[in-house]
Order: sequence, then C-alpha cells, then structure tokens
Amino acid sequence: MIFVLGATGKVGRHLVPALLDAGATVRALTRDPAKARIDPRAEVVRGDLGTSDLAALLDGADRVFVLTQGHSADREAAVARAAARAGVAHLVKLSTTGVHFGQNDAVTRAHAEAEQAIRAAGPMWTILRPGAFMDNRFAWIGSVREGNTVYVPETDPPSALIHVRDVAEVATLVLTTSGHEGATYELTGGEALTAEQQVTILSEAIGRPLKCVEEPERAAKDRMIRVSGWPAKAVDGLFALKRESAPHEHVVFDTVERLLGRPPLTFAAWARENASAFCPRE
Ligand SMILES: NC(=O)c1ccc[n+]([C@@H]2O[C@H](COP(=O)([O-])OP(=O)(O)OC[C@H]3O[C@@H](n4cnc5c(N)ncnc54)[C@H](OP(=O)(O)O)[C@@H]3O)[C@@H](O)[C@H]2O)c1
Repeated sequence: MIFVLGATGKVGRHLVPALLDAGATVRALTRDPAKARIDPRAEVVRGDLGTSDLAALLDGADRVFVLTQGHSADREAAVARAAARAGVAHLVKLSTTGVHFGQNDAVTRAHAEAEQAIRAAGPMWTILRPGAFMDNRFAWIGSVREGNTVYVPETDPPSALIHVRDVAEVATLVLTTSGHEGATYELTGGEALTAEQQVTILSEAIGRPLKCVEEPERAAKDRMIRVSGWPAKAVDGLFALKRESAPHEHVVFDTVERLLGRPPLTFAAWARENASAFCPRE
C-alpha cells in the first residue's frame, strides 16, 4: 500500500488517481475527509501530521509519498523515523530545485534538512526536486477576472515552470517501479518563459487580451498582503525565496523527458486546461 501525504494538494490530487490507475492500493491523508475530494478508490484517512499518531497512520504502508506544507524539517524527520519503525520500504520526498542550487532561503533550507532526515532514516529513498509550479499562476485569477490585467514583480525572472501533473507522473513512476532507489531528480518544464510570454500564452488560451504590468517589489508585496490576505511575514518569506531562486529559474532539466519518455507538458497546455478559472464569474 502506498501512503500519500498532501493527497488533496496540488501534486497529491493528481498523484492519487495516477497511482490507482497504475494498479496501486492507496491510502490518502487529509485533515478533513468531509471536505476533501479524493478519488473514491483510495482509502481516505483523517490525520494531522502535527498531532496524530504517526504509527497508526503508517500502519501497513509499504511506500510513502512525503509532502508537507509549512516547511518543517522536524515534521518530515518525524514521519521518516516513524516510517522506519513501521517497516516502510521506500520514502519518496517532494523537495525543491532550490536544494540543488544551494539556495539559502528558509524554505530551501528546511527542504535540505528534511532530505537529510529522509536519507538517514533507514528505508530506501528517492528525492524529487521540482522547480516552480505552473499552478502558482492561479494567483493571477483575481486581477484577470476583474480587469484583464496581470501584475508581476519586476524582478521575476524567466522561469521553466513545471506542470504539477508531470511531478505526479514522475512520482507515480518512482513509487510503482524499481530502479529509482537512492536517486535525486531535479524536475522542470521544458522551456523558460518570461512573465510577459506567460501572459501572452494565457491571453491566447482564454481568448481575451491581457495587460502585463510590472511592479517594484514594495508594490507587489503590498498587493499580495492587501488582495491575497497573506500575512506580511509569509510575503517576506516568498520574496526571500524569489531572490534566491531568480538566478536559476531559467534552468531546464531534461529529467521529465528522460523518465517519462515524452516532453514535459507546456504552459500553453496548462493555460488551455485552466482557461475557465480565469473567466469572470456570471
Ligand atoms: N509551489 C511551488 O512552486 C513549489 C515548487 C517546488 C516545491 N514545492 C513544495 O511543494 C510542497 C507543497 O506545496 P503547497 O504548499 O503548495 O501545498 P499543497 O501540496 O498544494 O497543499 C498542502 C497539502 O498538505 C496537507 N496538509 C497541510 N497541513 C497538514 C497537516 N498539518 N497534516 C496533514 N496534512 C497537511 C493538505 O491537506 P488537507 O488540507 O486536506 O489536510 C494538502 O493536501 C511544499 O513542500 C513546497 O515547498 C512547491
């Protein structure tokens, strides 16, 4: 049985059905089964990684997909140790390309520490290090719906954004076939696109002209706090990460194509799939 943490998240919601389609038995974790929309073929378990009995959650698991939100290396280390005690054979951890590039922001440092804990725990391991997700562009929904405008920080670099389904497909391969034990895979999309190129592609997908407005960091931060309701500390953390990742975001790795035998999904495909989310509500 494969135990999936983050089963309702950006990667997890694609991973669970992909594993089931591959013939695996899946246990999916969520804090709120009543709210979660999880493939009915999976066993859904309620649990909170901060408070639940990890031994009970992990009981009977052969492999675990390790994903946590909030970037706590301690939490992932606790999962890894409990997995070792429960006899789990293989841990597959979702990390970030930032670790490959030696970035020094808090998010990357936590992932680097968690990677070490996973490697040291005992079970076999595989580390997946994706770069920035195409899904991050859902942050543009509000201003596109309201005023056909996308606001981007002027420092945002060209980025080889990855489709979360590619991350989920690689995770499925690693969790359901052998030969990936002890491997660390950096994962990106196939091309680096500037924010303006991304906006042009999105505009074509939704069939409406969009304006791309670059803002200085201060204005971009204020907008996030005001419009998205993010706490100022979280916004500062995000911009610290952006500063560290900016020199590397254009780098394209060929790992998705090597592992899946097809090119990575494109931003144009992502934009077409998600076009309706950017249309004004009736
Ligand atoms: N966004 C990017 O561009 C990017 C790039 C590279 C790596 N990453 C990494 O991807 C990971 C996750 O991304 P995300 O933050 O966007 O989240 P996400 O995976 O989209 O969603 C968070 C998931 O974590 C679960 N969760 C949250 N708190 C939990 C708790 N206390 N106990 C159990 N489950 C809990 C949620 O489940 P319920 O709400 O159902 O309980 C949900 O399934 C992070 O480690 C991030 O660093 C992101």
